[in-house]
Amino acid sequence: MATLLARNGTCLTIRPLTSADFGALIDFHAALSVSTRSLFWPHAYDEPTLTRYAQRHAEGQDRIHLLCTPAAVVGYFFLWEFDHPVPLLGLGLADAWQGQGLGAAMLQHLIAEARAARRDGIELTTVTTNTRAFRLYTRAGFVRIGDVENLAGDGRIVREHRLFLALAPDARPPVRDFKPPV
Ligand SMILES: CC(C)(COP(=O)(O)OP(=O)(O)OC[C@H]1O[C@@H](n2cnc3c(N)ncnc32)[C@H](O)[C@@H]1OP(=O)(O)O)[C@@H](O)C(=O)NCCC(=O)NCCS
Repeated sequence: MATLLARNGTCLTIRPLTSADFGALIDFHAALSVSTRSLFWPHAYDEPTLTRYAQRHAEGQDRIHLLCTPAAVVGYFFLWEFDHPVPLLGLGLADAWQGQGLGAAMLQHLIAEARAARRDGIELTTVTTNTRAFRLYTRAGFVRIGDVENLAGDGRIVREHRLFLALAPDARPPVRDFKPPV
């Protein structure tokens, strides 16, 4: 089983999204502070939506991971459109688990998965005021290539920076709409 180590010494496990964890994932989202939720609300958290995401993971269309303690989901991270040349990355941590080096570890986990699957690159978007996330991404090699209007999980249209990490020579970001696949 894959694990990540927090700076406080806690070992957290990585699990794929399945129906067994829908309740814990809904609780994760519900417990986020208003400020974290304004930065990370990738999709709706109702059961039909989560069922579609679990199916997409099972069928290889997305890679969707939960970061867990024995009691709770504390992180959520994914590569949407994993079956495309350039998947779309997202990640977020529960407030109490931010600042523990886990963001970088989740990011490296996703980059390694995309590399292993020989993807051309990875894209992501981040709210323009999210300096912490922006630094995390640029330190990992992502480059800002513009700004886009992104459809958030609560229906808001949010202006976000668009970042790209090339994994193959001559990789190019695709033309796409910035909205959740479900
Ligand atoms: C963004 C996020 C994934 C980063 O993960 P994390 O484990 O908390 O990362 P850290 O707190 O270790 O910070 C990463 C770096 O940013 C720096 N940083 C921390 N707070 C910062 C701030 N307020 N402004 C600028 N940089 C900051 C840290 O110095 C750290 O660098 P270091 O590793 O050299 O010390 C996590 O904080 C999170 O989930 N935030 C809320 C949701 C979110 O923003 N998701 C991303 C959506 S695009």
